[in-house]
Amino acid sequence: MRNLISLILLTASLSHAIQLPFDISKLWPVKPPPSESLPVVETPQPPRIAIIGAGAGGSSAAFWIAKAKERSGLDVEIDIYERNDYIGGRSTTVYPYNDKAYEPVELGASIFVAVNKNLQRATREFNLSLYGFEDDDGDMGIWDGEQFLYTTGSKTGIFGSWLDNLKFLWRYGYRSAKRMQELVRSTLDVFVTLYNSDAPQWSSIEELKNALNWTELVSLTGAEYFLNHGVSQRLITELIEAGTRVNYAQNVDDLHSLVTACSLAADGGVSVKGGNWRIFEQFVKRSGARIFLGTEVVGIQRRSDNGWTVATQDGHRDYDAVIIAAPYHTSRISLPDDISSSIPPQPYIHLHVTLLTTTAATPDPEYFGYKPSGKIPTTILTSFDGARQGGKAPEFNSLTYHGQAKIARNETHDAQNTGEWSVKIFSMEPISDDWLARVFQGQVGWVFRKEWDSYPVLPPTVEFPPVKLDDGLFYVNAFEPLISAMETETIASRNIVELILKEKFNSSICPVETTRATTDGGVYGWDC
Ligand SMILES: Cc1cc2nc3c(=O)[nH]c(=O)nc-3n(C[C@H](O)[C@H](O)[C@H](O)COP(=O)(O)OP(=O)(O)OC[C@H]3O[C@@H](n4cnc5c(N)ncnc54)[C@H](O)[C@@H]3O)c2cc1C
Ligand SMILES: *[C@@H]1O[C@H](CO)[C@@H](O)[C@H](O)[C@H]1NC(C)=O
Ligand SMILES: *[C@@H]1O[C@H](CO)[C@@H](O)[C@H](O)[C@H]1NC(C)=O
Ligand SMILES: *[C@@H]1O[C@H](CO)[C@@H](O)[C@H](O)[C@H]1NC(C)=O
Ligand SMILES: *[C@@H]1O[C@H](CO)[C@@H](O)[C@H](O)[C@H]1NC(C)=O
Repeated sequence: MRNLISLILLTASLSHAIQLPFDISKLWPVKPPPSESLPVVETPQPPRIAIIGAGAGGSSAAFWIAKAKERSGLDVEIDIYERNDYIGGRSTTVYPYNDKAYEPVELGASIFVAVNKNLQRATREFNLSLYGFEDDDGDMGIWDGEQFLYTTGSKTGIFGSWLDNLKFLWRYGYRSAKRMQELVRSTLDVFVTLYNSDAPQWSSIEELKNALNWTELVSLTGAEYFLNHGVSQRLITELIEAGTRVNYAQNVDDLHSLVTACSLAADGGVSVKGGNWRIFEQFVKRSGARIFLGTEVVGIQRRSDNGWTVATQDGHRDYDAVIIAAPYHTSRISLPDDISSSIPPQPYIHLHVTLLTTTAATPDPEYFGYKPSGKIPTTILTSFDGARQGGKAPEFNSLTYHGQAKIARNETHDAQNTGEWSVKIFSMEPISDDWLARVFQGQVGWVFRKEWDSYPVLPPTVEFPPVKLDDGLFYVNAFEPLISAMETETIASRNIVELILKEKFNSSICPVETTRATTDGGVYGWDC
């Protein structure tokens, strides 16, 4: 449960990843756009794989292919196409005041947790430093739009030793809280089998869901599942909903219970200093792939020799296999009709992120109906339950202080506080300057707004988008309606790389002849 908070708590760092250690050469000379049926020129030598998107999914796909090259001598070229001018996708950072003297702040994906073994392993192998969120002090409250349903004197009171916290137990009950913890634990126990060397491979998400026995979890809402399994209504609509709203911007009676359980799984929450995108940058760099930043793929077409042609605004190139590692419906990629019609519509949550710095130590107590001297938490999560009973809905999903906006450390000075806090607000509607001036009592310094198509709308379902779109054409983000997170994209890409290596190259990330014994603590793909 600490997680919850960890999840929330965040922040901090960013930097624009524009200065990259790669050559950003323009693509090939402009050729005419591919016509309906492309002539077979020659089989590409060596074989080539294209990856579209350089977020968690695409960058890790390149890395997994490189692992296979390194271990089995497979000869394959990798090209990554990324329409942004940076690596990281929904994981990126910005500097307060756009000033690089400050420590950067995460604008998208902030936290990954202890069971996220690929990201954890990557930070160790790549020697990246981490921020932890468990030791933050400060207090937490659950706001329903009209009143605080629950507040705690310190975050650790609820997210650390919450079972020992009397106030917590009084409101939610020991049995209920314990039950919730067991349900989350048992879901994670199944999740971590995905890192074993005998983990299932899947050609569809349905197959994976069946292999992990997750049908019930994805067919019920979080509210139904936790209630059926003995968790009280109050714990569900207050605390669990606070978790689903901050992590997925959805209410507990709207989203399925697998992602609900994931939002409560936050033990060991961390973020990479300088930005989580540094992991993805290292994946790309160490893969030896060529990356074309600022290059949008506009179409993918079949070739008569079983391969694919990838077209960008600058030209086109032929591949043996193509990995789409971006949400298809916003990718603007044109696919053959039979393939595009096989991908069901997938709405995403349109989330507003507002970052700011303020000299106000807490939000204005009067906004929350307190006296001016009232004590307001600096981590404010929300419940929709007041609105369900006919009350006013919260105007934001979460409002979290993330510590001091710091001038970063340099050779001669330790990190320096600036007297300003850095704050992050997630909301479904834009947060106006007037609102900020009111809630932070006119003490707002820097403001930065970003709108994201952040995560899928995640209702209960038993059907998922196809992972394999056709021979040699795969879709990483089919995984997102099951669980949407940085880590799970690296798992989805690992599985797809295995499928391609098997189908096209009779190969594998781990050499086929190695004993597939699961070693304790081993992580499949990193270890064989
Ligand atoms: C505000 C916010 C908070 C979040 N918090 C967390 C968190 O705390 N922890 C967590 O694990 N996850 C979190 N997430 C979710 C997480 O960001 C995503 O699940 C994950 O980063 C998705 O990675 P991806 O590589 O699949 O997709 P993306 O990161 O979206 O990458 C896809 C890339 O493809 C590129 N692209 C798209 N179309 C084309 C094209 N036609 N040609 C070339 N390139 C193209 C895009 O520019 C993009 O860079 C959060 C997301 C948001 C928005
Ligand atoms: C890892 O980082 C530390 C501290 O930044 C540095 O001293 C060390 O040399 C680095 N090691 C490697 C292998 O890069
Ligand atoms: C699968 O899950 C169902 C309920 O979700 C449970 O009753 C059943 O025992 C599980 N089966 C196995 C083999 O774990
Ligand atoms: C280091 O930081 C201090 C305080 O912000 C600043 O005065 C100094 O100029 C910085 N030194 C360098 C070398 O950037
Ligand atoms: C595939 O690889 C395995 C082991 O590397 C080998 O034994 C087998 O003969 C190969 N199959 C084909 C069709 O090349």
